[in-house]
Amino acid sequence: MRGRLIAVEGADGTGKSTQARLLADRLGAVLTREPGGTPLGEMIRSMVLDPGGERPVDRAEALLIAAARAQHVAEVVRPALDSGSDVVTDRFIESSVAYQGYGRGLGAAEVAAVSAFATDGLAADLVVVIDVDDGTARERLDGVLDRIEQAGEDFRSRVIAAYRDMAASDPDRLVVVDGNGSVEEVADRVSVAVADRLGGA
Ligand code: TYD
Repeated sequence: MRGRLIAVEGADGTGKSTQARLLADRLGAVLTREPGGTPLGEMIRSMVLDPGGERPVDRAEALLIAAARAQHVAEVVRPALDSGSDVVTDRFIESSVAYQGYGRGLGAAEVAAVSAFATDGLAADLVVVIDVDDGTARERLDGVLDRIEQAGEDFRSRVIAAYRDMAASDPDRLVVVDGNGSVEEVADRVSVAVADRLGGA
């Protein structure tokens, strides 16, 4: 049986990477992330996120992330799904729609079309959007910020609004989980949401 693809999404500082790891543990799923997930993808991740060096223009940023996604899907995600494993990915297409489509202002439909080309039509079976209070997100956003995290408050507000919009317009595939509270509390909410939608979490 083909595995299920679950994307864990959210704005920066929502704790989604921790939750992606815990969900993958609970499901016995392959854990991976974007941009990255392959050697080429990790190189592209550095090009896009490391604050040093030439800043990619917005369209180049979108295309570089899409190129990393194409490699990731072909080399990691599809083979795992085809072998029957579930896959949990820390970010996927919805990140591009939120950050490049809404955040950078490139347009949701355009960016979604680029991603659809990159994945050859593969989309997540379920997208878990972790949503936290603004104050909590700020507290969790400590340390060195990557280039995109440095984009500023207006950009961050557009990204947060994008996830809420996407979830409202595709409620069967996107589920918003309250990310406030302890790591374990949130992990339990994520597991319940996944079990409700897909069974067996
Ligand atoms: P993130 O997943 O938050 O990693 P970390 O936990 O190490 O900070 O960082 C990835 C960054 O890449 C984040 O700022 C969002 C950005 N990004 C996009 O802008 N578009 C995308 O399609 C993806 C996958 C990520």
